[in-house]
Amino acid sequence: MSTVTIIDDETGKKVQMPLLTPTSGPKTIDISMLYKELGYFTYDPGFMSTASCSSAITFLDGEQGILQYRGYPIEQLAEHSNYLEVCYLLLNNKLPNRLELTEFEVDITNHTMLHEALKSFFSGFRRDAHPMAIMVGVVGALAAFYHDHMDIKNPEHRKITAHRLLAKMPTIAAWSYRFATGKPFVYPRNDLNYTENFLHMMFSMPSNDYKPSSLLAKALDLILILHADHEQNASTSTVRLAGSSDANPFAAVAAGVATLWGPAHGGANEAVIRMLIDINESGKPLQLFIDRAKDKNDDFRLMGFGHRVYKNHDPRATLIREICHKLLNEMETTGEQQKMLETAMALEKVALEDEYFITRNLYPNVDFYSGIIFLAMGIPMNMFTVMFAMARTVGWVAQWNEMISEPGYKIGRPRQLYTGPIDLKYDSIDKRS
Ligand code: CMC
Repeated sequence: MSTVTIIDDETGKKVQMPLLTPTSGPKTIDISMLYKELGYFTYDPGFMSTASCSSAITFLDGEQGILQYRGYPIEQLAEHSNYLEVCYLLLNNKLPNRLELTEFEVDITNHTMLHEALKSFFSGFRRDAHPMAIMVGVVGALAAFYHDHMDIKNPEHRKITAHRLLAKMPTIAAWSYRFATGKPFVYPRNDLNYTENFLHMMFSMPSNDYKPSSLLAKALDLILILHADHEQNASTSTVRLAGSSDANPFAAVAAGVATLWGPAHGGANEAVIRMLIDINESGKPLQLFIDRAKDKNDDFRLMGFGHRVYKNHDPRATLIREICHKLLNEMETTGEQQKMLETAMALEKVALEDEYFITRNLYPNVDFYSGIIFLAMGIPMNMFTVMFAMARTVGWVAQWNEMISEPGYKIGRPRQLYTGPIDLKYDSIDKRS
């Protein structure tokens, strides 16, 4: 086994650390014995050089722009597969045969209903609640409703939990929207596929049956595939950390939803559209916004540009850009949507030619385009991150399941570099300045 030798300059002590070789990607130094051997911690805020776990689910190479689920390149899955098949792959580490896929689809279809009492959770929120706030609450509340299969050490119970989450997320997502817009809740229909069913629950009215367009359903399916998993991102790491205490998996996934909400993570697609609207409404030249993004004294950033890991191109952005153009060419779009797409394309062009963005490898990411597509589908802006959460649920559950299945997994407990005071003397309150 290869090792890396760490020499303590102060004491001269040498310690050999095992060098682990992944299937693909950078070699990784196993430093788990460092504290025991040298009494040192490592310091890596933001996890810039730290592998927080080993995983066989998703591989990504940020330098080359590669993304693979269980070894299958995202481009192949986007072209040939569908979201539920990809979910099966992520959860089971193999593509299903015909019978396995049918059984999986039937099982997911049969779990889409929510407990009727969960409706009162929705109506307990303020009318103007953000749908992500509703989703965090309702997903966490599932823990209170589905106790019966909750021995997390039992693989069959974990499977039922995974299927429940996958099946119920579209219902929760659609109902968050229905509640926020004052529309009646629409129940799932078993004769529709996963994405058609979601669109049905979003847009059907008692007075007017909605027929989901196959074009939209297919585009949505593709977006769900592209967002299904992304290795140890902030929300997935949160789900793993929360789950590592053997917490209830619905509660752990609710923590993932909360983390995804931030604009530096899943909230970026909403932020992209807000930025495009601001640019269009300002009537100011685009260059002004580019200059602001480059100005270190201005906290304005080009939303939808840059990625912590992809430093060449985001392969999901390449695929989603194609869908975006196809969809907007084939369906009727409003003048506002066209204008937004034109601004987005102009922004993309300017940014890709500008030295600031080139030298920092700031390319459009998946969120740059997904917002435009959602808008064209009639999905309101505050639902964008909810869509992302719906898609990512399978990744969260697959990663949680992988962690719990590992023999002897440990509770996540990072350490710190303490920089505060020590050994202060307690003064009574009247002696304090
Ligand atoms: N606009 C302008 N400058 C930027 C941007 C941007 N969008 N992103 C990074 N930079 C600059 C940053 O100021 C820094 O410059 P310098 O080296 O001169 O100090 C340099 O590029 C490196 O940036 P960083 O903040 O150190 O990079 P990071 O890896 O910590 O941040 C990021 C990644 C995604 C948080 C950041 O690029 C960003 O805020 N982008 C906009 C928000 C966004 O689109 N987020 C969605 C991420 S993709 C969805 C997902 O997978 O969750």
